[in-house]
Amino acid sequence: MIADPLFAVRDRVIVVTGGGGKLGGQFARALLARGAKVAVFDAADASRVRDSYSDQDTKALRCFQVDVTSPDSIVSALRNVEGEWGTPAGLINAAAIDAPPDAPPEENGPFETYPASSFDRIMAVNVKGTMLCCQAIGDAMAKAGRGSIINICSTYGLVSPDQSLYDYRRARGETFFKPVTYSASKSAILNLTRYLATYWARQGVRVNTLTPGGVFANQERDFLEGYARRTPMGRMANEDEMNGGVIFLLSDASSYMTGANLVIDGGWTAW
Ligand SMILES: NC(=O)c1ccc[n+]([C@@H]2O[C@H](COP(=O)([O-])OP(=O)(O)OC[C@H]3O[C@@H](n4cnc5c(N)ncnc54)[C@H](O)[C@@H]3O)[C@@H](O)[C@H]2O)c1
Repeated sequence: MIADPLFAVRDRVIVVTGGGGKLGGQFARALLARGAKVAVFDAADASRVRDSYSDQDTKALRCFQVDVTSPDSIVSALRNVEGEWGTPAGLINAAAIDAPPDAPPEENGPFETYPASSFDRIMAVNVKGTMLCCQAIGDAMAKAGRGSIINICSTYGLVSPDQSLYDYRRARGETFFKPVTYSASKSAILNLTRYLATYWARQGVRVNTLTPGGVFANQERDFLEGYARRTPMGRMANEDEMNGGVIFLLSDASSYMTGANLVIDGGWTAW
């Protein structure tokens, strides 16, 4: 067990949305390793998500199938968590979607013909879903007089995607452009965070944004080389390199921090 009083999260009840995914899974693992009680809210099948944690001691892990766009779904899982463990002390909103790189050409094509239906679908999960989880779980935290919420943004929410990274795809005949909605949705997270930080500041609920840079996931070589050239530190992030920020923001080490944005991007937004 890893323990440092300043960064302690032991026995804290933390909800991790998107905990069935890559970064959410890392956050949940980092918390479990430090003695937190972790409730994963993910759209994927709960037993499948649970199985993905077979490398962990899962006594303090609960997995719920939750659609973050549905208030009933969030509240029902929250009632379960409260019934067993009490009011959560932390919430990480990591559930999000993007147009996958192999989406239909119009979804990853020029902005002028980008479909409105894709905009609605992505905004619903990334923005409305984050807002609804904050509403239900933040309300319970405010009533308890304490809590820490982390909303996950992206460098693409601070600055535009660099479309030149995808030149190699256009060079081979695709019409690929990194689509608009992911960026727009992630920008919205920044001010949702500031709004809620000031709204709940006197009730002991801190709300911050964590902004990761791109995470290595065996992307194509051309992409990786372009990304490395574009990044001051010369590489993508490893999956576990956001964990320090998460533990910091959830623990008392960040007790005077609210409404802020912690950027962990290898310097991407520094030039
Ligand atoms: N991976 C990166 O390079 C990167 C970079 C910057 C920011 N981020 C952000 O980090 C967060 C996690 O990203 P990731 O790479 O782990 O993504 P991921 O796709 O691996 O995981 C996302 C998870 O969200 C879940 N989800 C999707 N829709 C949902 C819904 N309606 N309700 C509940 N759960 C739902 C999925 O089932 C999945 O388990 C996201 O907010 C993402 O925008 C990721």
